[in-house]
Amino acid sequence: MPSPPPQSPPPQTAPGRPGRITLADFRAAARELLPAAAFDYLEGGAADERTVRWNAEAYERLALLPRVLAGLPGVDMRCTLYGTELSSPVLLAPTAAHGLFHPEAEAATVRGAAAAGALTTVSTFSTLTLEEIGAAATGPWWFQLYVQRDRALTEDLVHRARAAGARACVVTVDTPVTGLRERDLRNGFALPSHGAPVNLAGAAAGSGPDAAAPANPGIHDPRIDPAVGWSDLEWLRTVSGLPVLAKGIVRPDDARRAAEAGIGVWMSNHGGRNLDTAVAPLTTLPAVAEAVAGRVPVLIDGGVRRGTDVVKALALGADAVAIGRPYVWGLAADGAEGVRATLRALHRETELALTLLGAPNPASLTPDLVGPAWRSPQ
Ligand code: FNR
Ligand code: LAC
Repeated sequence: MPSPPPQSPPPQTAPGRPGRITLADFRAAARELLPAAAFDYLEGGAADERTVRWNAEAYERLALLPRVLAGLPGVDMRCTLYGTELSSPVLLAPTAAHGLFHPEAEAATVRGAAAAGALTTVSTFSTLTLEEIGAAATGPWWFQLYVQRDRALTEDLVHRARAAGARACVVTVDTPVTGLRERDLRNGFALPSHGAPVNLAGAAAGSGPDAAAPANPGIHDPRIDPAVGWSDLEWLRTVSGLPVLAKGIVRPDDARRAAEAGIGVWMSNHGGRNLDTAVAPLTTLPAVAEAVAGRVPVLIDGGVRRGTDVVKALALGADAVAIGRPYVWGLAADGAEGVRATLRALHRETELALTLLGAPNPASLTPDLVGPAWRSPQ
């Protein structure tokens, strides 16, 4: 009897479960699986969510100008940040409370990221302790710091993170207070005990008028210091012994000041979750890259959903790109495997885009590869 023909693999093998090919597929799965209020917390932004939309639209407004006949033997996606080699220039932005999204919480996140050769940024507001996350991590991770009113606690957090294996300290500078999250207010949402910030256990609550009546009482943690300044970043560089990045920069003058102080620039508007109508970081990226002039790495997040978005940011001057909501969709849908699969999907799309653009590696992406897709009527 003739043997049956070998089963050919499906074209573009699906990451993880069949049917989940794109980040949008994982979003649909997360939406089905999560309680509505948890999905709203994840998805939502501040006020009218204009900045959430602008973040995505900034990518949609740009077209790619592929170079043909580049004679590429292949594409090398690797990227080195602060001495750590990564499989691609896509990393995980810090997101709070992974226990809300999967029972294995941040342990699943760090395992999934490592399986994809990616770096995780662990939030101060993680559901597992820094020590538990460090023990679960098989790949590189950075610590995201919310500077606490209590500077001794702040210093202790950074030392704990470093001892647990963190290789850099990302200080979030765009959240003196939490934005007006109207979805959460309508839902009466507050972080439940399985999403509580255990790293701050035992820390005294904050005081002062802003602490007593925050705009968003269910989410805002009054222990965050609203009065962080440039000197705090210098101080953190000294006490942490780690590279320090400032996350939340959108202005070229702030970026220049960070670069002059040797502080990495992480462009972000917090995924549109804090100041509604704040500019999409992609809009100011070229000016920021010019101001930084290669002195420190420039990272960017907000609205990245496709490999073509990744290449646009890299072409306009970013050294690496971070994603927030998309890997949390993966986490909610399928734990560590879902995180791996979302990263792999983006990795594959980015590799394909580089190949079709005629660019052998991320460093070869230059601004001339990007132009306006359309112009609004005059
Ligand atoms: C965040 N973000 C965030 N940033 C931070 O510095 N510390 C944090 O704890 C959190 N927490 C958090 C929770 C959730 C549910 C989301 C969606 C986001 C912001 C995050 O790091 C990043 O800036 C944005 O998520 C990037 O935008 P996209 O990729 O979600 O569009
Ligand atoms: C958020 C806070 C925790 O964006 O950073 O929800």
